Amino acid sequence: MIIGKPFLTTDQIQNKVAELADRISRDYLGKEILAIGILKGSFMFFSDLVRSIQQPVTIDFIVASSYIKTTSTGEVKVHYDIKEDIKGKDVLIVDDIVDTGISLNYLRERILTQSPQSLKVCSFLNKKERRIVDIDLDYVGFEIPNVFVVGYGLDYENQFRNLPYIAIFKKKT
Ligand code: IMP
Ligand code: MG
Repeated sequence: MIIGKPFLTTDQIQNKVAELADRISRDYLGKEILAIGILKGSFMFFSDLVRSIQQPVTIDFIVASSYIKTTSTGEVKVHYDIKEDIKGKDVLIVDDIVDTGISLNYLRERILTQSPQSLKVCSFLNKKERRIVDIDLDYVGFEIPNVFVVGYGLDYENQFRNLPYIAIFKKKT
């Protein structure tokens, strides 16, 4: 496997997180946010983001997977579900990357059935080119082309999540 030089550096990442957290803090003024992280991919972004939000935040997680190696299976499996009561809450879903949109769309619909007061979606990366299911994203960190990236929570076969930057992953041929 080959990991190239940073595609997004730690500095670029941290600046973007601060920018997103500012926007979110202003938009939710006077409200309490229930932030739901989609694991595992969002764990680093999620913890950076909630740390910088200036409003009260409660947190919960969903562990879900839809991805085998570098192609989407189109199926979403929930391994761990939200424990918080969602009814009447201002829910913010936090994800690492939206690719086909299949996972997030499925999880969003699932949360909507539990009647939140409001529901918004924040994804650190957006690979619009690959979209299969249309989904509205309220907050996006970076629009990226159709490349497979790892680091800052994102993996290839569960590796490279710990990189403090984002790099393009290329399989050795
Ligand atoms: P989707 O259902 O196709 O939108 O897939 C979303 C999930 O696939 C993300 O939350 C990631 O876990 C994973 N994924 C999509 N693209 C990448 C990538 O470039 N690198 C690592 N994981 C990815
Ligand atoms: Mg994910």
